[in-house]
Amino acid sequence: MTHSSLKVGIVTVSDRASRGEYEDRGGPAIRDWLDRAITSDWNAEVRLVPDELPTLAQTLRELVDEAGCQLVLTTGGTGPAARDITPEATLEVADKVLDGFGEKMRAISLQYVPTAILSRQVGVIRKQALIVNLPGNPKAVAEILDELFEVIPYTIELLE
Ligand code: MTE
Repeated sequence: MTHSSLKVGIVTVSDRASRGEYEDRGGPAIRDWLDRAITSDWNAEVRLVPDELPTLAQTLRELVDEAGCQLVLTTGGTGPAARDITPEATLEVADKVLDGFGEKMRAISLQYVPTAILSRQVGVIRKQALIVNLPGNPKAVAEILDELFEVIPYTIELLE
């Protein structure tokens, strides 16, 4: 990474994890993966929110506009169920949609599971930040980041 100190928002979107009924494994999976991948100085802003569109949209705005994150990774809530609203909240705060991110992430995941087709995950730009949706499954987090991450530092550089 070329950044001296990269700030990354890590947002778990889960009704059950936010109520404490379920241990959040997606957020820690993102953090562990980034710890191994980023050799320069970086720090995390960690959030855990329920599957509520206004709450998630507000969290994404806060992480980019106030906390100054250059990258925000969400986990969970990308599927087809009624409560899955992560892509909608992400699109609501987007300045631009990077369609290639959704296409690439589904292509990666389809190598592992046919149900990858169910994830509606998107990648968008808000101000100086890239926001990317990952599925809730910690295994999916690592599978996608392993192949996707190489384009992320360059994308962030273009937004400065
Ligand atoms: N992608 C990868 N790489 N590995 C997985 O196991 N699970 C899929 C899909 N993408 C999966 C994956 C499944 S079963 C679903 S329902 C969707 O992601 C949406 O998951 P989410 O609602 O937790 O975001």
